[in-house]
Amino acid sequence: MTAAPEVARGSATGGVLLDAHNVTMQFGGLRAVGNVSMHVSRGEIVGLIGPNGAGKTTFFNCLTGLYKPTSGSVTFAGQPLPPRPRKVVYAGMARTFQNIRLFHNMTALENVMVGRYCRTKTNAIDAVLRLPRHRREEREATDRSRELLAFVGLEKKADTLSRNLPYGDQRRLEIARALATDPQLLLLDEPTAGMNPQETREAEDLIFRIRDLGLAVLVIEHDMRFIFNLCDRVYCLVRGEVLVEGAGDVVQNDPRVIEAYIGKPTVIEEDGNDA
Ligand SMILES: Nc1ncnc2c1ncn2[C@@H]1O[C@H](COP(=O)(O)OP(=O)(O)O)[C@@H](O)[C@H]1O
Ligand SMILES: [Mg+2]
Repeated sequence: MTAAPEVARGSATGGVLLDAHNVTMQFGGLRAVGNVSMHVSRGEIVGLIGPNGAGKTTFFNCLTGLYKPTSGSVTFAGQPLPPRPRKVVYAGMARTFQNIRLFHNMTALENVMVGRYCRTKTNAIDAVLRLPRHRREEREATDRSRELLAFVGLEKKADTLSRNLPYGDQRRLEIARALATDPQLLLLDEPTAGMNPQETREAEDLIFRIRDLGLAVLVIEHDMRFIFNLCDRVYCLVRGEVLVEGAGDVVQNDPRVIEAYIGKPTVIEEDGNDA
């Protein structure tokens, strides 16, 4: 697959936000991600699919500073992305995890406020002395966090410990916490894993509403109906490499993608034996 020309990329949607070029992640002898190039434009919802072990989560880890890629480059809003999770968040990229990572002994509201603190300016002295700036920022963080809980549909669960929330609510809470960092791009790693069909539809609606706020979204998912309903473009990763990239309907009908998921079709010969 050849990358689209620089000028064409993202021109319809307001410019390229994330640009990963030839990203490779090698673990000893295992090349989990090999020469992956991918871009996400402002306002786009992009899907990342591929069988288990294809390297999707590892690629997310390379983008978000959990791993430093063995080679390749990542730019965000035109700037090289520093390989440090905290700096990635400051740059405007937030994520959720395939295995939910919440503070289990904190309430839903407190979990969202943790995300919010990366945008506050108070220092330790302000906090210890409870200076006006600290009090004002606390109030702002609480209000914004409540707003975000309402946005994901958890306003009534603000005071519930996150460990007591049902699984689907925990996934939505993780999204609220990510949104609290004011990202321009949200990365979601299997946001509907473990959800029932009703919750999956709600998650789809939530992601559309996030896009309508002006954010771009990059989403890993196994649920094909979900992906192809939602995404403007889809990348299919197989054994660490991009196998196919394109609009949803193109990727959906590509025989190589079908083969990657369910294997080659078996040819039945006329005598009824498998070939
Ligand atoms: N930290 C690590 N050390 C060694 N191997 C890893 C590490 N993380 C992932 N892998 C391997 O990289 C491959 C891709 O894994 P992963 O990115 O989790 O796939 P996916 O998310 O597509 O299911 C797998 O073979 C996995 O075992
Ligand atoms: Mg994964």
